[in-house]
Amino acid sequence: MTQVVITRNIGETAVSKLGQTDIRFSHNESDVSWNQDTLIAQSSKAEAIVCLLSDQMSADVMDRLPNLRLIANVAVGYDNIDIQAATERGIIVTNTPDVLTETTADLAFALLLAIARRIPESDSFMRAEKYTRFELFPDMLGVDVYGKTLGIVGMGRIGTAVARRGTLGFNMPILYSGRRRQEEAESELGATYVSFDDLLAQSDFISVNVALTPETTHLFDYAAFQKMKSTACIINTARGPVVKEADLVQALKEGLIQGAAIDVFEFEPKMVDGLADIQDKLVVAPHIGSATVDTRNKMADIAVGNVMAYFEGKRPLTMVNPEVYDNR
Ligand code: DGY
Repeated sequence: MTQVVITRNIGETAVSKLGQTDIRFSHNESDVSWNQDTLIAQSSKAEAIVCLLSDQMSADVMDRLPNLRLIANVAVGYDNIDIQAATERGIIVTNTPDVLTETTADLAFALLLAIARRIPESDSFMRAEKYTRFELFPDMLGVDVYGKTLGIVGMGRIGTAVARRGTLGFNMPILYSGRRRQEEAESELGATYVSFDDLLAQSDFISVNVALTPETTHLFDYAAFQKMKSTACIINTARGPVVKEADLVQALKEGLIQGAAIDVFEFEPKMVDGLADIQDKLVVAPHIGSATVDTRNKMADIAVGNVMAYFEGKRPLTMVNPEVYDNR
């Protein structure tokens, strides 16, 4: 009987480790998600599921998988899983923190530089053989990054890593907002805790690094964009629905803000109508924040390691709801 179902391709490195144990598992090696019925049919007897952020693990799905005791998400974010429902049903949920922090912060900073210095447009311009003469004030004028104010919305692990790049590499004063003060970030990086509105009003670049929760959904709507500097850029490597994408389109079209660089989308994998039509103020990427060979393998390793720990009767390392394990 299959004990573990891996819902998507998570690479051979991690799966081969599972293969060296007695645990019986199946691996959907495809890169296409199963729909809910297929996921349930494939996992009907499973005690553990290794899934990706595109698998919606709702209370209903859990109710239809009576043997399920562990969900190992191959992501640090877990907004695809109803944690309360899992906890109520005695299902342990694990995620993959830490290993992707620096990789995701690198991407956030790459996007910041790309939008500030108009790198994708410059690339297209060259390939179209439009560069015919040097000009002091070309169409491709960008904005400075060095010394500009960086606002971090959500100074968690990744937010702090982005801030570190900003202050140590680019001499950027750091503002941050969030539910609580982060004294370590203040002493290490000289970051200043401000209200969300003050962060909007004072930042030249805003990096979105909050988890998706009911409180952060549509945190950036038209009203928020109105409060930003018209020269400011927003960078989102967190979760798409934190930004109300239709309002972002409007804000960019009306020049409320200078630009946006986004790796995550409200209705992922789709972009809202009108977003792709925006040329010179937008950089987009297909949710590649943690997408390096090493990091994705490490994420898969952690998820599989948690499954192995569970079946060996050991404590999984990165539990989101450890109380389920502790109260067994
Ligand atoms: C995560 O881990 O939550 C990222 O969005 C994907 O790596």
